[in-house]
Amino acid sequence: MVSIRLPYLGSAVQYGHTCVGLCSLLVTLLFVLLIRQLAKQRRPPGFPPGPSPIPVIGNIFSLATEPHVFMKKQSEIYGQVFSLDLGGYSTVVLNGYDTMRECLYHQSDVFIDRPSLPLFNKMTKMGGLLNAKYGRGWIEHRKLASNTFRYFGSVQKQFERKISEECMFFVDAIDDHKGKPFNPKHLVTNAVSNITNLIIFGERFTYDDHDFQHMIEIFSENVELAVSGWSFLYNAFPWIEYIPFGKHQKLFRNAAEVYEFLLLIIERFSEGRNPQSPRHYIDSYMDELDQITTESDSIWSKENLIYSVGELIIAGTETTTNTIRWAMLYMALYPNIQEKVHKEIDSVLGNGKPPSLEDKQSMPYVEAVLHEVLRFCNIVPLGIFRATTQDAVVNSYTIPKGTMVITNLYSVHFDEKYWTDPGTFSPQRFLDSNGDFVRREAFVPFSLGRRHCLGEQLARMEMFLFFTTLLQNFNLQFPPGIVPNLTPKLGMTLQPLPYSICAVRRQQ
Ligand code: HEM
Repeated sequence: MVSIRLPYLGSAVQYGHTCVGLCSLLVTLLFVLLIRQLAKQRRPPGFPPGPSPIPVIGNIFSLATEPHVFMKKQSEIYGQVFSLDLGGYSTVVLNGYDTMRECLYHQSDVFIDRPSLPLFNKMTKMGGLLNAKYGRGWIEHRKLASNTFRYFGSVQKQFERKISEECMFFVDAIDDHKGKPFNPKHLVTNAVSNITNLIIFGERFTYDDHDFQHMIEIFSENVELAVSGWSFLYNAFPWIEYIPFGKHQKLFRNAAEVYEFLLLIIERFSEGRNPQSPRHYIDSYMDELDQITTESDSIWSKENLIYSVGELIIAGTETTTNTIRWAMLYMALYPNIQEKVHKEIDSVLGNGKPPSLEDKQSMPYVEAVLHEVLRFCNIVPLGIFRATTQDAVVNSYTIPKGTMVITNLYSVHFDEKYWTDPGTFSPQRFLDSNGDFVRREAFVPFSLGRRHCLGEQLARMEMFLFFTTLLQNFNLQFPPGIVPNLTPKLGMTLQPLPYSICAVRRQQ
């Protein structure tokens, strides 16, 4: 009996020692990680002040609801340039027009980078275009996209005709609802994404292409998830990748699915290509891939093609769609403003002629409404995170090279120094006493400097043509007794919560 029990006791003692050893190793490891994290949270000398961070997670939790509003409030306490700690990432937040112009315009080359966050790194390896680090890769991808967008898009009169055609498909699809309530989100998304599709793939997709729609849906879900608490936590503690639950896992699954889909359609649309005679963005990119001769040309790759196509689709769709959805919502909310829009459209396009870009000059009120929607609704309230390429000095604070920078564009559009009563929706602020359109300096929905929005010109064309065609044909109103919730849905972009609207055919 004894000889049986002794070895058992021996292994139990050994097991106990191993457990104690492992526990103390774990405690030591956690202690080292904690010290490392706390050291990362110390503000560098000369850094802007800001609210006190909670140990380890910093100010992440303060960003849970309306981060742009929270940041504007903090700027009233700490000044237009202040700092936050995002789980060990010392971050500078820029607020107000004066600061934004000083940093993004006058020091454009300093504030031009993107931060090397684990999430961006996992999504696009800091390549592609929108998330690319500042350097030859970004410069060349931006040049290719700008040239392609100009070549296949804005310079061609034929392209304007194609947008007008899409506007008619859009009107027909709205007509199918026969004035009954419907949620316009999917229709607007389909119509708007087709304009970018024309440039990227040379073709539009039909409104019942469920595969493409599903891709856009999960991609835009990722735009939301990218600024969720889980994403900030992932950036601070990338090892949570191994925790099998949480919104970051959903984000990774969506991203993998989008990547696979893009790979397939890129292959489909590059079939039958003639080198050096591009039909669309993909062909133009393939021509660059053909030119690779040296190692330094590795900025061009199949992977970067997929990333840049994905970024162009989502950057072009999510933003313009949300602007048009807000515009529809505000027209139904303010029938007096809608009536003035109708009057102007009827006086310029009296005979029911479809609008063209030339008509823009004669429609200052429509322009004022669209500008006010962009100002008031703040489609991309915090821009896209930037980073510094070298040490910078702003308002006598020192910002070291590589610091993450948040551009609070919302604070510019609500900057009391430049806007009277900014909390009121008033297109009138973009008109002079003669009713002519006036540009306003502190209007920055597309951001500023060399890294400003690449699609600004295209977005302006789309917004004008879609909005004018829509209002030329329909009267927008809410279903009887329904008052929509105006609180925005949070994400990288601000979009309206789902709402129903009735588009009633106008008598012409
Ligand atoms: C109303 C519509 C739009 C708004 C409000 C908007 C706004 C913005 C903003 C604020 C940025 C961040 C710039 C920065 O880093 O500071 C941006 C970047 C960008 N936008 Fe837009 N955008 C719109 C439409 C479009 C369209 C139609 C396209 C093209 C298809 C597009 C493509 C891009 C790209 C590629 C970038 C990244 C530029 C880079 O990193 O170099 N955007 N946009």
